[in-house]
Amino acid sequence: MQIVSRIFLIIAVGLAAAWPSETTAQTSVQLEALKRLKNLDIEANPSFKKVVLSILEASNGKPAFVEIVRDFKLKGHEAELIRFAQAHPKDSTGVEAMRLALTEPGLKLISAAITGNDTKAALTTAQALANAQSPKVEPILLNAAKQDKKPLALRAAAVNGLAKSKTGAAALIKAAQAGELGADLNFTAGNALRSVRWKEISTAAAKLFPAPQGLGQALPPLTKLVAMKGDIANGEKVFFRPQSTCATCHQVNGNGIDFGPKLSGIGTKLGKEALYLSILEPSAGISFGYEAWLLKLKNGAEALGVITSSTDDEVTLRVPGGISTTHKTADIVSRTQLPTSIMPPGLQATMTPQELVDMITYLASLKQAKP
Ligand code: HEC
Repeated sequence: MQIVSRIFLIIAVGLAAAWPSETTAQTSVQLEALKRLKNLDIEANPSFKKVVLSILEASNGKPAFVEIVRDFKLKGHEAELIRFAQAHPKDSTGVEAMRLALTEPGLKLISAAITGNDTKAALTTAQALANAQSPKVEPILLNAAKQDKKPLALRAAAVNGLAKSKTGAAALIKAAQAGELGADLNFTAGNALRSVRWKEISTAAAKLFPAPQGLGQALPPLTKLVAMKGDIANGEKVFFRPQSTCATCHQVNGNGIDFGPKLSGIGTKLGKEALYLSILEPSAGISFGYEAWLLKLKNGAEALGVITSSTDDEVTLRVPGGISTTHKTADIVSRTQLPTSIMPPGLQATMTPQELVDMITYLASLKQAKP
């Protein structure tokens, strides 16, 4: 054992002995010491194992719990991990908890939570699963999507999760073709599937779930669009309404999800023509720092997002929805930069030409972030 590890081991074990009753300050010092010991084999050192388990118990329900389970590869904590994921289905640690819980016994608990009568637990479980991006959870999500007696929110979360992977999206198309999805899912399924990056799936989706009414009108040429007058207030509504999907990736003055560039001052950065192009042809000019990366993972999953940090050991990827997930380099089979933008093309199809003009007029009016 290295000398530094030995010192931290002494701190961790020593603190546990000195204060047999738990105090928060003591636990946090122990946690710091533990973080530096994460490569130690705890099975080889029973007194250390005891300390780790006691700190684990004291951290139940907190992010540290998830980190300890991960760092020391502890087994048998699926129930607590799932409870943590249910409490934080949309943040990175919650999603990590869900990933760690995807063992055989964990998957049984997850299926039970999703099919169970506790509606809130079922929904948050589905949301965390949808964000966990693993082929293991696709059968569970698909099953949930088909249960038309279950609340729409649960089924919609399942659909959104499935649409993130090619196999999941293809399974949804198949289920829709077989009439296995409730009609109340058409809106969600259409929004999620029409803009996927797999051509055959987006084509099938456009047929199965045509974009909402009144939108098939031909778009005037760019020169004409730029000259058209728009209504700022209506443009704001169009930007934020769900079928436009803009606010699932962009923030304006703090509203919306922080994934793509913030648009609070976009009217200063881009003129009208460039604004139109960024929607009609997102891949024509990709903002620096927002390039799309595709990670292929050992577990068979693919993750598409923006790399926010990368070291020899780990890569952190922010995915649409704003969640960051960290992958060990050892779990990554390949990483490829895509020539296309993560922003899907064709979003103008969700609005009439006049609504597009209104939205661009609104964006052009955003000159600086509101204080
Ligand atoms: C899936 C996520 C996603 C969705 C949905 C999305 N965008 Fe984007 N958008 C991005 C990303 C990522 C970038 C940066 C990469 C690029 O420039 O293509 C971007 C870039 C932009 C830019 C250029 C920003 C700059 O600083 O240059 C504008 C303007 C924009 N989006 C507007 C919209 C509007 C309007 C909508 C809705 C119709 C929308 N986006 C929907 C992810 C998204």
